[in-house]
Amino acid sequence: MMSMPPPLRLTVLAACLPFLGATAQPGGGPLASYTTTQARAGEEAYRDVCATCHKPDLAGASDTPQLAGDTFLGMWGGRPATELFAYVNAAMPPAGRKPDAETLMNVVAYILKKNGMPSGRTPLDETAPGIIAPAARDR
Ligand code: HEC
Repeated sequence: MMSMPPPLRLTVLAACLPFLGATAQPGGGPLASYTTTQARAGEEAYRDVCATCHKPDLAGASDTPQLAGDTFLGMWGGRPATELFAYVNAAMPPAGRKPDAETLMNVVAYILKKNGMPSGRTPLDETAPGIIAPAARDR
């Protein structure tokens, strides 16, 4: 068997290190995790605060973007869930009473659920590294 010269062997090892220990996804990095408790609380808050515009089924309307489905995932799939939270926390709802950050994090968990992502034991929070599932056509 041919053996690689030592410097090359080191390069190969270094190139592989970032991928060790994570469940790799084609979109890059592990999927975001949330708990069923978060999603349940998020559903309630979503109905209170978001559903008038984005609709109870998250389908959106002519002037309001979809929050679950291929259009949404085409925009947000593969991006960190924390980016989605940062957007929501900064911009949504556009007017009126603003829920606290924990409530909005729960709403993001509910959005992940409605996009077909599985719940897990790790709650979604501002330090979570996970990504949003890529759209079906990109998988
Ligand atoms: C008054 C109507 C209204 C309410 C209430 C509202 N939104 Fe929105 N939302 C919009 C509009 C309009 C846009 C498009 C904004 C833009 O393009 O600048 C938007 C954009 C978004 C986006 C970006 C979607 C994309 O693909 O670009 C997200 C995510 C979002 N809203 C989540 C929420 C959440 C979560 C809530 C509740 C906490 C909420 N919105 C409440 C009207 C609303």
